[in-house]
Amino acid sequence: MQLIKKASELQAVLAEARRGDKSVGFLPTMGALHEGHLTLARRAVNENDISVVSVFVNPTQFNNKTDLETYPRNVEEDARKLSEVGVDLVFAPGAEEFYTKEEMENRFEFDFGGLDQVMEGKFRPGHFNGVVQVVSKLFRLVAPTRAYFGEKDFQQLAIIRRMVKVMGFKLEIVGCPIVREESGLALSSRNALLTEEQRKLATNIHAVLAESRLFVGQTSVKELHDSTISAINHHDGLEVEYYDIVDGRTLKSVSRWDDTDYIVGCVTVYCGKVRLIDNIRLK
Ligand code: PAJ
Repeated sequence: MQLIKKASELQAVLAEARRGDKSVGFLPTMGALHEGHLTLARRAVNENDISVVSVFVNPTQFNNKTDLETYPRNVEEDARKLSEVGVDLVFAPGAEEFYTKEEMENRFEFDFGGLDQVMEGKFRPGHFNGVVQVVSKLFRLVAPTRAYFGEKDFQQLAIIRRMVKVMGFKLEIVGCPIVREESGLALSSRNALLTEEQRKLATNIHAVLAESRLFVGQTSVKELHDSTISAINHHDGLEVEYYDIVDGRTLKSVSRWDDTDYIVGCVTVYCGKVRLIDNIRLK
């Protein structure tokens, strides 16, 4: 495994490695890697000739300075884990060398077709502009055959699919199922910020969502929506920011179970100060 810090070096190494039409699998991450990331990394390794993982805490997608500052970082440990799963190249640039001054200062504009107006986009204004900025720049650098994204960030995955279409990238986006602890808690780099007690408390998020599935079709969408929020908030220390029951393709809210054949419940919950997201396929 090779750890690369400079974009020019990454391009040179990749140009050499991909000779003879080799496939390149790419996983973009912000580091603090856990088993969720590593599951995606294994797929990138197994399904491609060359695998590349980026580790970069992208400043332009944070709309909260404290969140950016407290985001866990540990590149050496990340590189070690990636080497163990057989990743070929790890790209871990510094923010100063990755972006020009102009890119850092001006908001990146993109036509989201409305996908950014709901859920994470609504509560984290500008967040997805930063995500599209960094992922499009990384795609141009790496020129992957396949790029891997987790369904945990459900809205991000929908936006990346649109970005690929609108910007005309010739690559395949591979959506990967959510990896959970045995307790049901979705693995997240932010879990590292939870106390032992909060970690236990946070398992209720998935437990409530999973149980709510039993009522799909039995009660109205509105009733299920409201009772899910109450059931999560019922646990002292958990506070739902939003819960949206949406069409899995358009991310538009559904009002009836037969509105579409693909329905997903997406939630964001504060566990103390830590913001956790999760989702569940309801239909
Ligand atoms: P990050 O949060 O590090 O996540 C990197 C990738 O791992 C994302 O595609 C995310 O959905 C996936 N992932 C994280 N936890 C997962 C889990 N428990 N199960 C399955 N997949 C999981 O998402 C980002 O970084 C950034 O926004 C990025 C795309 C790298 C752009 O900066």
